[in-house]
Amino acid sequence: MDTESDSQVTHISVQQARDPAVIGTQVRLLGWVQTRRDSKAGFSFLEINDGSCLGNVQAIAPGELDNYESVVRKLTTGCSVEIIGKVVESAGKGQSTEIETMSVNLIGAADPEEYPLQKRGKGERHSMEKLREWAHLRPRTRTIGAVARVKNCICNSIHQFFQERGFLYVHTPVITTSDCEGAGEMFQVTTLDLDFVAKKSIEKMDYNFDFFGEPAYLTVSGQLEGETYACALGKIYTFGPTFRAEKSNTSRHLSEFWMIEPEMAFYELDDNMDLAESFLKRIFKDALEHCAEDMEFFSSPYLPWNKQNKSEPIREVLAAIIESDFVRCSYTEAIEILEKSDAKFQFPVKWGADLQSEHERYLTEQHFKSPVILYDYPRSIKPFYMYCNEDEKTVRGMDVLVPQIGEIIGGAQREHRLDVIKSRMAEMDMPEEEYWWYLDLRKFGTVPHSGFGLGLERVVQFVTGMTNVRDVIPFPRTPGNAEF
Ligand code: 4AD
Ligand code: MG
Repeated sequence: MDTESDSQVTHISVQQARDPAVIGTQVRLLGWVQTRRDSKAGFSFLEINDGSCLGNVQAIAPGELDNYESVVRKLTTGCSVEIIGKVVESAGKGQSTEIETMSVNLIGAADPEEYPLQKRGKGERHSMEKLREWAHLRPRTRTIGAVARVKNCICNSIHQFFQERGFLYVHTPVITTSDCEGAGEMFQVTTLDLDFVAKKSIEKMDYNFDFFGEPAYLTVSGQLEGETYACALGKIYTFGPTFRAEKSNTSRHLSEFWMIEPEMAFYELDDNMDLAESFLKRIFKDALEHCAEDMEFFSSPYLPWNKQNKSEPIREVLAAIIESDFVRCSYTEAIEILEKSDAKFQFPVKWGADLQSEHERYLTEQHFKSPVILYDYPRSIKPFYMYCNEDEKTVRGMDVLVPQIGEIIGGAQREHRLDVIKSRMAEMDMPEEEYWWYLDLRKFGTVPHSGFGLGLERVVQFVTGMTNVRDVIPFPRTPGNAEF
């Protein structure tokens, strides 16, 4: 047990205190009061949580304590306390231990007139929208606490998955001068005084005066730089923040999110799909195994969003996915399925058009009822770096779609033939000079290679069943919102 001894009193977490193995131990517990209930028999029940797990431990504070009237009976939700006592077997339902309290020390009060996270009536709860206004306090709620623990587990699982397979963790820059996805959705980084620029009504910016001497941006993806390391070291992955200045106000889009991008030399599209599938299954398996209590919570039919959507418990959804194969379906086949379906779509289905979220969700939720890997997309809707197929119409791109979310992974086999990528860039009006270093990879010892990007928040959203991506990142950045 990871504990800190202070004479005979051991400092333990709430999670440890709930373990029957510690019954009989003298402990010191530090945490926050969730609720206080006074018994008519002259003692109080204090529910304590410290974030180490979803459940609380109950401390029973006897009326004989010196400060029972002056402190204990005045404790309110949110107060921080130190409790010293003995872990004993609990007579109560749904808990195996409780604390027989010897002293209660108030560390910090939380005025109930002002502290917003007051316990609500039975079955009532603050809405997730309301909690976003208190983003600094919401980690104290059960839901956001559980999201944080599951996200931590997923991050650990991601590193383990790649480390066990010999991938090197590399860091690609956050500030960059190239637009990987070519969608022009980048935040510009500048030290220029924009007020001054506005006053001078300068028509054409002279970037010699700017910090980097040329326009620079926050990265939308570490892929291009990641490829340089894969084409030297074999298998690498990046895991870092990425930014999109996309005006999408949806439940799946963030302006700042984290992306995991593996990139592998000598991998073709099929190898890439195999890796993506085992990667996701590993994440799901670890979450179920290591966050059992939190995952039980997210599967509860009483959570308002689960109740509303009448969705199958997420634990069962994940367990079934782990046991089955993802469907693999070409873009062209997907279009045929959508064209034949009776579903009414807002956006028309036509070969050559990008799939909308409604189409993706139809395929994974209604048609296949399984995660789906779509591949071989029309070249006209995909970025310049994707491998061009012999049909001259499609490229070896792939997207992994899951129910409720739609696209969770985007990736491709990369175009490694110098002449082909050059003509593709010319076709798209991309200046070769700006990508000289990227083209060098194709000039010197070029190899087939592939990779993909997984959106961290999208996978956390899927695993937890949370309905809005803004509730799975501590401080969401979306168009018009960068508070905190
Ligand atoms: O499909 P995307 O744009 O792919 C790339 O950026 C490639 N360069 C990745 C690669 O091949 N190395 O983004 C990859 C994933 C998406 O599938 C999605 O999960 C997530 O990143 N993503 C977002 N997540 C939250 N908010 C947004 N605005 C996102 N845009 C993409
Ligand atoms: Mg994509």
